[in-house]
Amino acid sequence: MLAVIKTYSLEGITGYPVDIEVDVQGGVPGFDIVGLAGASVREARNRVRSAVRNSSYDFMPRKVTVNLAPADTAKNGSAFDLPIAVGFLAGTEQIPQDNIAEYIMIGELSLDGGIRRVNGILPLLISALQDGHKKFIVPYDNAKEASYIIGAEVYALSSLSDVCSFLGGIMAKEPVPNTQYESTAAISKYGVDMADVKGQSCAKRALEIAVAGGHNMLLCGPPGAGKTMLAKCVPTIMPDMTFEEAIETTKIHSVAGKTDGEQGMVTLRPFRTPHHTASLFSLIGGGAQSKPGEVSLAHNGVLFLDEMPEYNKKTLETLRQPLEDGTITVSRVQRTIEYPASFMLIASMNPCPCGFDGSRLRECTCTPLEKRKYRARISGPLLDRIDIYVDVDGVEYGELKNNVAVETSAQIKSRVERAREIQRKRFAGKGFYTNAKMTNAQIKKYCALSSDCEKLLESAFARLKLSARGLTRIVKTARTIADLRESEAIQIADIAEAIQYRARSLHQ
Ligand SMILES: Nc1ncnc2c1ncn2[C@@H]1O[C@H](COP(=O)(O)OP(=O)(O)OP(=O)(O)O)[C@@H](O)[C@H]1O
Ligand SMILES: [Mg+2]
Ligand SMILES: [Zn+2]
Repeated sequence: MLAVIKTYSLEGITGYPVDIEVDVQGGVPGFDIVGLAGASVREARNRVRSAVRNSSYDFMPRKVTVNLAPADTAKNGSAFDLPIAVGFLAGTEQIPQDNIAEYIMIGELSLDGGIRRVNGILPLLISALQDGHKKFIVPYDNAKEASYIIGAEVYALSSLSDVCSFLGGIMAKEPVPNTQYESTAAISKYGVDMADVKGQSCAKRALEIAVAGGHNMLLCGPPGAGKTMLAKCVPTIMPDMTFEEAIETTKIHSVAGKTDGEQGMVTLRPFRTPHHTASLFSLIGGGAQSKPGEVSLAHNGVLFLDEMPEYNKKTLETLRQPLEDGTITVSRVQRTIEYPASFMLIASMNPCPCGFDGSRLRECTCTPLEKRKYRARISGPLLDRIDIYVDVDGVEYGELKNNVAVETSAQIKSRVERAREIQRKRFAGKGFYTNAKMTNAQIKKYCALSSDCEKLLESAFARLKLSARGLTRIVKTARTIADLRESEAIQIADIAEAIQYRARSLHQ
C-alpha cells in the first residue's frame, strides 16, 4: 500500500515542500530510501525501525520503498524521520490514513520512539504557511519557536506513539497557543550598559553617531582602553528589533541550530565576535551542511572584529559582499545558497605593535618600520567601507573613580531612535533605512551643503590627503550628525565633527 506524508525541507532559510511516498509491498524484505537522500537521511531507516518497535508497533519484514519527491534536490538532515515512520505505519495499515494528508510533519526520532527537536522550524513553517498549509505536527521541544507564527495550527508532540494516537483520534491535543512578540527587549538583558563605561565621552559620541546612521566603525587605542567594552554596548543603543527583523534573525539562528528552546525567538540584537583564528566557513558560512556563518548570525546586529590586524587579510576581504549587499552567497555542491548578512561592522585595533602610539598614558616604543608593517596588515578594501574611525585612549584613575552621573544606554537609544525615524521617512520606499547606505546621487540630493561647508571640506581634503571616497563618508556622517540634532540643514559644526572621524590616516 502507498502512503504519502507531506513535509518541508530547507534551502538556505527558505523551506520547500517534500512529499514522502512510502510504498509497502510483499516480496523480498528491504527498506530503501531514494530521491537524492544524503547519508543523514539514509540513516533514518535505523532510527525508524527502532522507534517503531519501541512504540509497540510492528516493523514487519516487507519490501519498503521510501521516495523523497521531488527527487532532483539533495536532501539532508534527520527531520524526515517522523514522516517516514508515519508513512510506514500507514503503508502497513497499522494506523488509518484518513487525515494524515492534512498535516505537515517534521521531526527527528530517537531510538526509543521519542521525537527530537530539529533545526529550522521557524523558516520551515513560515514557508509552508505561505504555500497555504495550516496544520503542523512538530517536535515538542520546538513548540516555543513555532508559537510565534501567527495563523499556523501547530501540534507539538513528544513521541511517535503520541502522533499515532493523535492522528487516530484517540488522544485529543490543543494547538500551541501563539506567543506575543515583546518588542521591548529590556536593555538590561544585554548585561552591559553605556553607564558602566567611565569617561570616553568622545568614543561614546562616535558610537551614537555610528549606530544612528548605520555606519561601520573602527576603534583604535592601547590595550585595556575599553574598546571591547564599548563595542559590547553597541547593541544596547540600537533600536529594538521589529517583529519582522526578529523573525528574519531567528530564521538564520534556527537553521544554524542556535535558538534556545525556552526563548524560541531571537529578540535581542545579535553581537557576534568571531575569533581571528576562525575558519572561512565559520565566518561566511558553507561547509558540508551549508550552515550560515558568523556574518549571517550577526544579521540585524553587530559583527565585532576584535584586534582586526590579527585576522587573515583574504578572510576579511570576503566581507566585502555582505558589507555592500547585506547578503552572502555560500556555495554548495552544484549550486549556491544566499543568506542574509546585514550587520553593523565594528573593528578594533591597537595603533601599533606596542599599542601606545599616540597615547597620553605611555611612550610608544615601536620604530616607524614596525608601525608601517603593522598597519599594512589591515585589509584596505575593508577599511574603505568604514565611515568612522575613533581613537580611544585609556582613561585615568580619577575618571574611573569619579561618580559623575553618565548617560545610560536607554537615554542614548532614544536619540538614536529619533534620528532613525527621520531617516526612515527620508528613505521611505527606497529599500534601505540609513544614511550610511546612500549612493552618490542620493548624497547630492539629501546632503545640500552651504558654501562655508564646502570650503571646510575642501581644506580638509588637501590637509588630510583624503580620497573622493573619504569625502563622501564625511558628508554621510555629517548627515547623521545633523539628524541627531533633528535638523534638516547640515551645518559647519556637523562637517567639522565628521572630519574628526576621518582624521587618523591608517595608510601612513
Ligand atoms: N572607561 C572605562 N570605564 C570602566 N571600565 C573600564 C573602562 N575602560 C576599561 N575598563 C575596564 O578595563 C577592562 C578592559 O577593557 P577592554 O577589554 O574593553 O579593553 P580593550 O581596549 O579591548 O583592550 P585590549 O586592546 O587589550 O583588547 C574592562 O573589562 C573594564 O573592566
Ligand atoms: Mg579588547
Ligand atoms: Zn608602539
